[in-house]
Amino acid sequence: MVIPQSRRFIDYHDLLAIKELDAISVCTPNLLHSQITVDAFRAGKHVLCEKPMAMTGAEAQKMNDAAAKARKKLQIGLMNRFRSDANYIKKLVAEGTLGNIYYARCHAIRRRGVPSWGVFGQLDKQGGGGVIDIGVHMMDLTWWLMGCPQPVAISGATYRTIGNTPGHAGCFGAWDWKTYTVEDFAVGLVRFKNGATMSIECGFCVNLDKPDESVHIVGDKGGAGLSPLSVQLEASGHLLDCTPNDIGTMDLFLAGKKASNYDTEVASFCRAVLDNKPVHVPGTEVIWVQKMINGLYASAKAGKEVAIK
Ligand SMILES: NC(=O)c1ccc[n+]([C@@H]2O[C@H](COP(=O)([O-])OP(=O)(O)OC[C@H]3O[C@@H](n4cnc5c(N)ncnc54)[C@H](O)[C@@H]3O)[C@@H](O)[C@H]2O)c1
Repeated sequence: MVIPQSRRFIDYHDLLAIKELDAISVCTPNLLHSQITVDAFRAGKHVLCEKPMAMTGAEAQKMNDAAAKARKKLQIGLMNRFRSDANYIKKLVAEGTLGNIYYARCHAIRRRGVPSWGVFGQLDKQGGGGVIDIGVHMMDLTWWLMGCPQPVAISGATYRTIGNTPGHAGCFGAWDWKTYTVEDFAVGLVRFKNGATMSIECGFCVNLDKPDESVHIVGDKGGAGLSPLSVQLEASGHLLDCTPNDIGTMDLFLAGKKASNYDTEVASFCRAVLDNKPVHVPGTEVIWVQKMINGLYASAKAGKEVAIK
């Protein structure tokens, strides 16, 4: 159904009351992701919810429960899973080219990259800083490329020394340092049930040399990284550094068309709704990323490794 004209609402419940509306996109501050999603399912809508899924694992569980009860689709806006380079690595892993995957690392690092708009520096509205906002992308992508192993424990540390003090340059302009209550930088190590581990470095502000949004997957036969896309293999007595050619843009869901990851994300969600097929980034999977994020924060607070259940 096409809504004939664009309309604005003061209260999202008025939007949810439109009977002809099949699906909604939740793109508010993180604080509202869970409640709006649950209300949307109660109103019989499908939901594409922006990342992070929620602020806590308990909120994420409510979203999944409401989706199951309403028998509607919940996709999370982690558009990196639609990247063509990432899908090439996914294929290498699935076909066994890299062997048994036992380690991975993910980086989401900005030297001075606190968003200067919105409420990204406010803990009560976002649930955290660089880990929950940008780390979530690379953590999800890395974990998905590893084959979504079951996380069992995480150890982490967080730091805040820059974002809450005045006089810093920012790549998005000046941010409000007075209301900044989130972490600048975090490190972590996740342990998985299958013995694999994933290391994490992410943050809005850290004195490292350059921005870095990268992933590396390590197996006993080879490795692969993003970004840039690289593959490390061994053949005929030599180590090979490979650069896959002509990967192009992802068109899994928009056959033949050049499309951004956001285009393919939305197209795949609509396709899943129209064809009643599973979504590509389901809330039932992403809840584990949410639990890793909250586990990292809990471990940092406790000063020791914590279990992920
Ligand atoms: N996938 C991505 O790459 C990506 C990129 C940017 C933002 N995001 C996510 O999108 C969300 C929003 O980020 P943003 O940069 O657009 O922030 P923003 O502050 O620019 O926008 C937030 C919007 O939420 C609206 N809002 C606030 N309270 C509301 C309420 N009670 N009911 C209805 N609407 C309400 C505001 O009016 C505003 O339009 C965040 O969760 C962020 O993580 C994802």
